[in-house]
This record gives sequence, structure tokens and C-alpha cells, in this order.
Amino acid sequence: MYEDLMKKAIDASTRAYVPYSNFPVGACVLTENDKTYTGCNFENSSFGLTICAERNAIGSAIADGERKIKAIAVYSPKQDNCTPCGACRQVISEFCDDNTDIIVKINDDLKIYKITELLPERFSL
Ligand code: THU
Repeated sequence: MYEDLMKKAIDASTRAYVPYSNFPVGACVLTENDKTYTGCNFENSSFGLTICAERNAIGSAIADGERKIKAIAVYSPKQDNCTPCGACRQVISEFCDDNTDIIVKINDDLKIYKITELLPERFSL
């Protein structure tokens, strides 16, 4: 079911700009309107300005007017089970609900997490 979403995340990872870490990441968001948006990480010589793949993909969805994430796939060719970093978990949390699927790849399988597992007792206003 989520194979297509993961394929798009994998494809996006090939366009990552990662001269400093050499750690490409791709993400693909599925919104409540069944639209998909991809993103890759892009780094900066001022390291703290690096943008993660997840936030890049979510930014594209937001810029297109989408507000609810049904699912997000995350992939790095460098790491199985490449789950979102802490900052991205908080950003995902802003636009997801408890049913949102956060999908990673482990070998040939997909594993689905919920935000309640990845960011328990999360902050929101
Ligand atoms: N990175 C992501 O794009 N998403 C994550 O959730 C983990 C980290 C990127 C940031 C940086 O370009 C590289 O991976 C190494 O941290």
C-alpha cells in the first residue's frame, strides 16, 4: 500500500544535496487530499542551516495549501529504519494526527510508526 510512497522517497533521496554529511535522505508526504509531495535534505556550509528531507517535503505540501498529513515515508540509502530526527518529529506533529503513518524501510520491509511512539507527550498549543 505504501510502496509507491516509499518509491517516491527513494527517488527524492537521489537528489539530496549532502556534500558535508554524505547522508542523503528522501521523504514523501501523502496528504488528506491524496496528494504527494517529495523532499530531500539540503545542507549548507553553515551546518545549522541544513534542512531535512521531511521538513522540505512538508514545506512543499504547506505551500500548496495542504494542512493534514495522512502518511510520510522517509528513506536513506545509508541507514535502515531511518526515522525522523527530533526537530522533524515536532514539525510532523504540527500537521499529523494520532493515525498518521510514519513509514521507514528495513531491508525489504516497510515499518510503520505513529507519532505517539516517536514523540510521546508532544508539545502543542
Ligand atoms: N537528515 C534528514 O534529512 N532527516 C532526518 O530525519 C535525519 C537527518 C539529514 C540532515 C543531514 O543533512 C543529514 O541527514 C545527516 O544528519
